[in-house]
Amino acid sequence: MGTGGLCVSAINSKAAGTVHRLDTAGAKNSALPTLIAAVLNGGRADLYGVPHVSDVENLLKLLERLGATASRQMRADGMLNLSITADRIDTTKLTNDLMKTTRGSVLVLGPLLARKRKCCIAKPGGCSIGKRPIDLHLAALASMGAKITELGEEIYADAPSGLHGADIDFPIKTVTGTENLMMAATLANGKTILKNAALEPEITDLGNFLNQMGARITGHGTDIITIEGVTNLSGTEYTIMTDRIEAGSYMIAAAVSGNIVDVMGGDFRSLLPGFIPKMEGAGVEFEDLDNGLRVKGPDRFRAVEIDTAPHPGFPTDLQPQMMAMLCLADGESIIRENIWENRFMHVAELNRMGANITIDGPVARIRPVKQLYGTTVTATDLRAAFALIVAAIAARGETIIKGVHHLDRGYSCVKEKLAACGLNIERIM
Ligand code: EPZ
Repeated sequence: MGTGGLCVSAINSKAAGTVHRLDTAGAKNSALPTLIAAVLNGGRADLYGVPHVSDVENLLKLLERLGATASRQMRADGMLNLSITADRIDTTKLTNDLMKTTRGSVLVLGPLLARKRKCCIAKPGGCSIGKRPIDLHLAALASMGAKITELGEEIYADAPSGLHGADIDFPIKTVTGTENLMMAATLANGKTILKNAALEPEITDLGNFLNQMGARITGHGTDIITIEGVTNLSGTEYTIMTDRIEAGSYMIAAAVSGNIVDVMGGDFRSLLPGFIPKMEGAGVEFEDLDNGLRVKGPDRFRAVEIDTAPHPGFPTDLQPQMMAMLCLADGESIIRENIWENRFMHVAELNRMGANITIDGPVARIRPVKQLYGTTVTATDLRAAFALIVAAIAARGETIIKGVHHLDRGYSCVKEKLAACGLNIERIM
């Protein structure tokens, strides 16, 4: 997982009529909270089907810094089976560089407060898509009895007599905020109710894992989650859910390539209820398979209008990739990015490839062009990196994509998976 670049040139190995197959990995955004939840108990947690991506590797280093041990088994399919043991926690202070490497690190707050009644973390940095504040996490933990002190770049949280249950009403839906509070409440004294909780499937996955560890959570996957605190949790084994954002990303790549691809790993119509209908609106055909979808793109895409929104709306994590696909649509598409204040960093790079996109605040207008052209472009964040791959698949000529370390944060085995879709790319170290 180095930096380096990708070379994407004349694409298809598509023999007409060939049906390709892609198996998706475990979900990065489920693996991150589940890995951290494993330290809530003094036992061993075995996690299967964890994606081999740098966000996971960095989080494992952070857990080991806390005193946990993690043993890794690389599987033939490129995923990891992990055994996490956290019978002791050596420190509750994480103010090092590792906190800045992955946003998921903010999720240590809830578990450490629950188990050790104190925690000190470095303020997780923002990133290119936005400031990424955690004020809602902190306010909710304070309502459970934690004393929060911010000293410069460090946040201290203290609950010497333990956390107590609370009635928490999130002013806006926050995915990791909901996850942090779910984990904190598992060992609190009494009942906690999370209202206006986020509904993402990764939250359901985390709640199921915690319940297997002996937690008492109901309502996860709805906007009211109830957690009855228990005195301790025990180890368990669990398979991480499929990565719906990876699946959607490859569906877009397949649609642009013109290849027929079976994207396998889950019931993607129910995991991506805000995305699949928009792809169909753009002319993409889907055939239902057992545990997947057969994807076939049109000769020309239709323009669509998209508003990103919390689940079950259109996922912001598929916005850049969809924008790349719509560059070649017949007609003007509109994308409103309603979650992140700066998630259009990929627009300048797409325009350098010949796209015609203009931005007005949170609204991007994608006007039709006849062709995209290969050139050298630079990825700015994880999902923008995949968007550039989509554009490169559609472009005439060779595209060099720099900054692929962003890609490695959340996508594993990209060369092999694109090859499985009939698309050949080269990794330039
Ligand atoms: C999670 O981030 C995902 N990351 C993001 O995926 C995803 O884009 C995001 O949810 C939205 O779906 C992980 O799960 C690790 P939020 P998170 O808290 O939890 C505001 C990817 O590409 N907010 O749901 O950090 C915030 O500014 C990544 O895989 C506050 O104001 O997002 C944003 O506008 C990128 N205060 C909105 O809420 C807070 O305390 C939603 O953010 C927390 C959030």
